[in-house]
Amino acid sequence: MERTFVMVKPDGVQRRLVGEIIRRFENRGLRLVGMKLLQPSRELAEKHYAVHLGKSFYEDLVNFVTSGPVVAMAWEGDNVISLVRKMMGALKPEEASSGTIRGDYTADIQKNLIHGSDGPDTAKYEIDLWFSKSELLVSLEQ
Ligand code: PPS
Repeated sequence: MERTFVMVKPDGVQRRLVGEIIRRFENRGLRLVGMKLLQPSRELAEKHYAVHLGKSFYEDLVNFVTSGPVVAMAWEGDNVISLVRKMMGALKPEEASSGTIRGDYTADIQKNLIHGSDGPDTAKYEIDLWFSKSELLVSLEQ
């Protein structure tokens, strides 16, 4: 059983796609174990994207993700990290297949609706960054 961090980015909240995104994960059988709506501070966004510091898109990305409210979530399930990444769809619009969240709802590389952790270490870092322990449900396995 794994956990992953998912964020509906400001464009997803503005476009009223929060419910649609949650519906897809619930329909797939994933378990929502934490959720909150907030406008991230610059400090939080910089910590979240610290690994990308210095890349050409870093500044725009931090500005974008702090531009409005986001929905931060933690999801639990078997192989949930890779499952969520598959359901999100590829970063490049021309590679995001129909049937994925990005493939069905966006063609913009920055306004790409959703973030999902890309591996176990990142998932732990991001869940610990965005949530306190008391904001998360206890794992069914504990
Ligand atoms: S990299 O270079 O392979 O590490 O980049 P990647 O992991 O694919 O993406 C890291 C995050 O940066 C966002 N990104 C971009 N935003 C705007 N413009 C461009 N060109 C761009 N390229 C990458 C991408 O959506 C990732 O953000 P998250 O929130 O993790 O999806």
